[in-house]
Amino acid sequence: TAFFRPDGTIHLSACAGDGRLGCCTTTSGLFFKMAGRVGDSPLIGCGLYCDGEVGSAGATGHGESCIVTVGAHTAVEFMRQGLSPTEACLATLERVVHNTRADYLRDAQGRPRNNLALYAVNRRGEVGGASLWSGSRYAVCRAGSPPRLEDSSFLFKRDA
Ligand code: GLY
Repeated sequence: TAFFRPDGTIHLSACAGDGRLGCCTTTSGLFFKMAGRVGDSPLIGCGLYCDGEVGSAGATGHGESCIVTVGAHTAVEFMRQGLSPTEACLATLERVVHNTRADYLRDAQGRPRNNLALYAVNRRGEVGGASLWSGSRYAVCRAGSPPRLEDSSFLFKRDA
């Protein structure tokens, strides 16, 4: 019998029917992490951020990449400027790419080697998600409908 054990960080952003927002991100699921490493998950603005007037966002993946861009807060600020949740995630990831300067973090084309995924919801209940690399998905749960998986938008397509 095949056994699939999901692991890693989980982010949840939620919007109630009346527009109230909330979010949480699990503590880092990174395996073999260095003792004392914090990661982005517990850093408000990095692994999660919620502004009741705008929306909520969070991240999974390479935490250091998210920290240098204050990813979740940046995504919320892009939504404040009028971007959709997915557009806000993509714009934030473009900044992550810009901020990824260390050679050991980039491939031969200058793209980040690691993946980072962002998820966002605005106060109208519109949702979106994006990752640096193709192949990520996120779950959408709406009252009265079965949960569904959505493909994340992405900046770079992984070779098959
Ligand atoms: N995103 C979780 C971590 O890097 O610690």
